[in-house]
Formats: sequence, C-alpha cells, structure tokens
Amino acid sequence: MPNKVSTLLLFGATGDLSRRMLLPSLYGLDSDGLLPDDLTIVGTARTKLDDAEFRARAEAALQEHLPEGFFKADVAERFLNRLSYVALDATDQSGFPALAQAVGNPADGVAIFLSTAPSLFKPTIDGLAAAGLASDKVRMALEKPLGSDLESSRQINDAVASAFPESRTFRIDHYLGKETVQNLLALRFANVMFEPLWNAAHIDHVQISIAETVGVEGRGDYYDTAGALRDMVQNHMLQLLALVAMEPPATFDATAVRGEKVKVLRSLRPITAECCKNDIVTGQFAAGKMGDKDVPGYADELGRSSDTETFVGIKAHVDNWRWSGVPFYLRTGKRMPRRTTEIVIQFKNVPHNIFSARGAVTQANTLLIGLQPEETIRMTMMAKMPGLDREGIRLREVPLDLGLANAFADRRRRIAYERLLLDLIEGDPTLFVRRDEVEAQWEWIDGIRAAWAESGLKPEAYAAGSSGPPSAFQLATRDGVTWHE
Ligand code: BG6
Repeated sequence: MPNKVSTLLLFGATGDLSRRMLLPSLYGLDSDGLLPDDLTIVGTARTKLDDAEFRARAEAALQEHLPEGFFKADVAERFLNRLSYVALDATDQSGFPALAQAVGNPADGVAIFLSTAPSLFKPTIDGLAAAGLASDKVRMALEKPLGSDLESSRQINDAVASAFPESRTFRIDHYLGKETVQNLLALRFANVMFEPLWNAAHIDHVQISIAETVGVEGRGDYYDTAGALRDMVQNHMLQLLALVAMEPPATFDATAVRGEKVKVLRSLRPITAECCKNDIVTGQFAAGKMGDKDVPGYADELGRSSDTETFVGIKAHVDNWRWSGVPFYLRTGKRMPRRTTEIVIQFKNVPHNIFSARGAVTQANTLLIGLQPEETIRMTMMAKMPGLDREGIRLREVPLDLGLANAFADRRRRIAYERLLLDLIEGDPTLFVRRDEVEAQWEWIDGIRAAWAESGLKPEAYAAGSSGPPSAFQLATRDGVTWHE
C-alpha cells in the first residue's frame, strides 16, 4: 500500500459535516503544508454543481467555519484549486464510471471518505468496486452511524469488506482525533506515576460525562432513530472508556492499541433487565431555559411525540482483574447547562489519616481529564494550609494543573478531523475503529436496549438547561458518589 494518496474522494461533499468540519480541516492541513503537493480533492454528492460552483460553496464554508483570522487568501486559492466536483446519485450505478474518470489514474493511491447516509454505503461500495475504484491503492473511510445495532453494523461491515479489506478500512470516531484523547494515552503511558495506581486497588470509580448544550439541530430524523445511547455511548463514550481502562499496548500502533481496546469492550458486564432498574437512567428534555433563552422541548423540536432518550446515564463495569468492583459512571445528554466533556478518575482515600487526631480530614485525589470546552488535565492534591495550627492542622484540596493551554500556547488547536484526515491520507489506522471493536460496542449496546425493552424503561423528563433527570443523580449518590460538576 502506498504511504500517501494523491486523490481524496469526498462523498457527501455538500453536506453539513463537509462544510463544518472536513473542508475546514483540509484547509488547516494545507495551510500547515501537510497535504501532499499533488493531492486533488474530488467532491461528490447528488446536487448538480460544476467545479466553480463547488469551489464557491467550499470557500463560503471556510469563511463561515474557520476560526477568525485563519482564512488567508493565498492558502485558500491553493486549497480551492485542488477541488473538483462530480454530481452523482449513489443509488444509480451508471454514474460511477464518470466518477472513476474524474479520479483518473492517480500515481499514488486514492482515499475515499463516505460522509453519507448509511443506506448509501452499500450501493456506493458496489458502484466503486464495479468502476475499478476499490483496487489495493484505494482506502475507504466511513463516518458514523455505522449501523443501528449489531446486525445492521455487520451488514455494513460485510458490504465494505466485499470490496475493501480491513487493512484499508478506516472507521471514523471523531473523538479519537481530539487532542486530549491522545493526551490521555500520553498521560497514562509516558509517565511513570499513574500506571501503578491505575487499578481497582487505588481507584474508587471513574466518571465519563459528555454534556452538550445543543438540541437536535435539525437532525431530528436521524436522532430520533438513534437517541443518546446509540448516538453518543455506542461510539464516543465507549472509546473513552476503552482508552481509560485498557492495558498498556506494547507499541503505539494500530494492532496493539486496538487489540487492547477490544479486550476492554469485551469485558463490559452485560446489562440485564434486572440491573436496568438501578444502573440505567434515561431522560428526554422538556421545554426550559438555556441561559436567558426559552427553548422548546424535544418533542416540539421534533414535531411529534417520541420515546427517544436525549439523556442517558449508565453505571457500567469492566469485568477483569484490573477493574473488578470499580464502577464506571457514564452520562451524556443534550440541552445541558454547559458544554463539557470530561473524564474523572476518582482515587481512593488514603488508607489511614495520620492527621485525624489534629482534626484534619483528607479528601481522595481526583484526576480530571477535560476534553471540552478547554483541554485540561488537573489533579487535586491535599496540601496543608499555611498557619501555625495551634488548634489543629488544616488540609485543603489544591489543583495541580498541567496547564496545557499555556504549555503549548504556540500550537494551534486543531479540529479533530485534521488528525484523522491526515492519518487517512498517510495510511495510519491507529486512531480508527476496527471491525471487532465496533461490533463489541454494538453487542453491549444491543444488550442494553433489550434490557430496556424488557424492563419497560421510559425516559424521564428533564427541563432543558438542567443537569438531567433527578434519577441521574441517584445513579451515583446511591453509591455515595457525587457527580463532578
Ligand atoms: C456526534 C453526534 O457524533 O457527536 C452529535 O452525532 C454530537 O449528536 C456530536 O453533537 C458531539 O461531538 P463534539 O465533538 O461536539 O463533542
């Protein structure tokens, strides 16, 4: 397989993801001189456009979505000159030869990025294969949703595998392109002090929260068939959990890293209808206030009533030696008061407090890994407050902050897709999801959905702008745990 590709074929080129993320990411790579000089980008979608119209749309997308001041006329000119466009209805096989002709016979390889509805995956792959665009010089990236359950995910994977072997299949989970997600690995495996403590002997529990302020943003038709469990937990949340819980891989390469993650995913304790009562909470946002602004409830946003959950909280367990007895509290929801994505590692308290006779209380150490809105890694430590302590010793929690923003102030904060697109172009699958991973994720999620159905679990209403349904708090407080806020 060649290391680099000279053509990037972008399906869904006029879509939302392309405008908001993919084109700005490719521009970002170009501006840093990271795209191969000869790379051409062929956009395709159903809309009929010529090259100039596509370039004009791409330019408008860059103007709208690049960070302020980042759009530079000379870089934009170079970037837009790489773009061309072929209108194609993927359900009509007769259009693919023209696409193959537009791609031509590139000297190096071709990377294909499918950012389309999953129903188009199979006809697209069949069309590509028939048009000779699935040779061993071609690699294929797929954007979620990769199925709605294990069965449909297998069908997608089989369709892809009929033309592209696993080594040339790049399944996207954009969380893996986020800088702090990779920093989690650096923290764990490039420092000596965490790994000896990273287990059930020293860790009380783990919290993973992804809170979003947005509602369904015009994606109701998709979202209502997915819900928070399949939209966020099946992929992003479980990837975070796997990275926290995995054993040290021998090397940072695709086989070793993904091999360790899949072991974790397969160790997730299945959730049964019985544990559904205590270990799962679902919610749906009702009308409420985001700041000063009144916002409608989910059903109003959708235009019909629905039982789809916009919030889910889960107490999960990884049944292996390292994590036996350590709960992983997961929660994600839309219309939360603030946008935050964070992982909290709650250590156990010291086994014996030597200061207790002097009236001092120790708090257990906490390691916070914040992905959004800021990239942070912060440890809370106990420190003695200054003073003569005639009436006793006073201890207080003090944050030990890695200060990533300052330490790397000269580094541009990149969109997650920049990393993933570059890895796709260069052929490094380490940060992409392997088939066995995605299927292990679905297997666990299918079990939860079956347990919901059996136990008759229905989402509880929570006001938009609140932190979720009241039972979400009990999920943790019942165990004496407080959600990190
Ligand atoms: C997507 C989900 O995968 O991730 C969206 O489909 C969600 O519903 C988004 O809003 C969150 O991504 P990020 O990077 O904004 O946290």
